[in-house]
Amino acid sequence: MNRILIINGPNLNLLGRREPDIYGKISMNDYMEALVADYPSIEIEYFQSNHEGDLIDTLHEAGFDENCLGIVLNAGAYTHTSLALGDAIRSIETPVVEVHISNVFSREEVRRHSFISDACKGVISGFGLDSYRLAIEAILAL
Ligand code: DQA
Repeated sequence: MNRILIINGPNLNLLGRREPDIYGKISMNDYMEALVADYPSIEIEYFQSNHEGDLIDTLHEAGFDENCLGIVLNAGAYTHTSLALGDAIRSIETPVVEVHISNVFSREEVRRHSFISDACKGVISGFGLDSYRLAIEAILAL
């Protein structure tokens, strides 16, 4: 029981290049390399998709894996639109931590609403890429 899955949603494949003033200049691949090295005793896996259904399928898969300690989910803009993602999180057993790189509460009004927060164990928002590491720490402390 030592697996943690990080799931990134739409447009997060462009981290490092996408709106660097908001999301920073580091790619997820570079960040993942450092993160994996920091936690040698945990199997940290990474999945990214721009497609809502793929995110749901991946949640279902990890959600009943007894080796999975938790899921770190940055659903990107689907956070603010997807009842289906909220339902998927409510349907699984593995704890999910919602993550955002930016502070979604300090941005446009539309980003203040999340369809997934109430289904998640907790929310981490606004710490740059470090939000992912904080979510891992939160899962390890559960
Ligand atoms: C985001 C915030 C969302 O509002 C946005 O649509 C994203 C990224 C973040 O990590 O700050 O794609 O989830």
